[in-house]
Amino acid sequence: MKILEKDELCWCGSGKKYEDCHMNFDLKINKQAKKLKALSPSRKMIKSPKDIEGIKAAAVVNNGLLDMVEGRIKAGISTDDINTWCEEFLKEHDAHSADLGYMGYPKSICTAVNDVICHGIPSDKVILKEGDIINVDVTTEYKGYYADASRMFMIGEVSENAKRLVEVTKECLEIGMAQIKPFYSQVRDIGIAIERYAKSKGYSVVMEYCGHGVGYKMHEDPYVLHYASYEPSVLLVPGMVITIEPMINEGSRYIRFKAGDDWTSYTKDGKLSAQWEHTIVITEDGYEVVSK
Ligand code: MF3
Ligand code: CO
Ligand code: CO
Repeated sequence: MKILEKDELCWCGSGKKYEDCHMNFDLKINKQAKKLKALSPSRKMIKSPKDIEGIKAAAVVNNGLLDMVEGRIKAGISTDDINTWCEEFLKEHDAHSADLGYMGYPKSICTAVNDVICHGIPSDKVILKEGDIINVDVTTEYKGYYADASRMFMIGEVSENAKRLVEVTKECLEIGMAQIKPFYSQVRDIGIAIERYAKSKGYSVVMEYCGHGVGYKMHEDPYVLHYASYEPSVLLVPGMVITIEPMINEGSRYIRFKAGDDWTSYTKDGKLSAQWEHTIVITEDGYEVVSK
């Protein structure tokens, strides 16, 4: 963080003198980043209280949408039916899907059934049946702010293996979040903890996709790996808003695509994959899960 002159206006746009606003915050970042051999976050990564209110409002819609899906999802419906429900819900709430049209993505949500890792395109040909596990992932844009979350759903009675994978994947997300210690931990600590835990349960971590900053757009810096990397990473500080969204495989970590679809990512070995995603606001003394 570049330290300004005391009397200058603060960089955050509050209109206050730097000395009376973010000066001590910036000094603490620099001190802790140095101590932890971490990188200082850029100013764009630090959201104002007003921005955080905006992100929380988007999160309320995103959560409502996933609650709606949770109430209706069942065997016999298609993943395209879920997409239709979501489009209706977003319209009723004056909100939009950030997925629709993103790099040409054709639908408003992602639906990942069984061996689909992520970015499954809703289809009227994919009919849910008893025993399936499915991830529904959506990023809502509401009044210019973004919130991103996904949940797993189990359709009727599912196998013990599937249930355990879904549970452990949720624990991976929780263990990742537990690494957030504002000013005292860095982004890489999240992935280090997730990989260690997933492997201790006999699972593998998908390396091709990661969590991310979120708020003004769907995907922002910093990128949040779910596996161990010991490269210096960004210090976690209050005002940052990130997602954690581990994709955990029952078998090997490797992915594949099928002909004619560059979006849908499958496990290479055809075994199950699960994912949970939250949008998380980092606070003075910890974090708040705003979209889940
Ligand atoms: N919601 C996804 C994420 O967690 C991204 C969606 S990709 C899209 O980052 F293509 F569907 F938009
Ligand atoms: Co998402
Ligand atoms: Co995301």
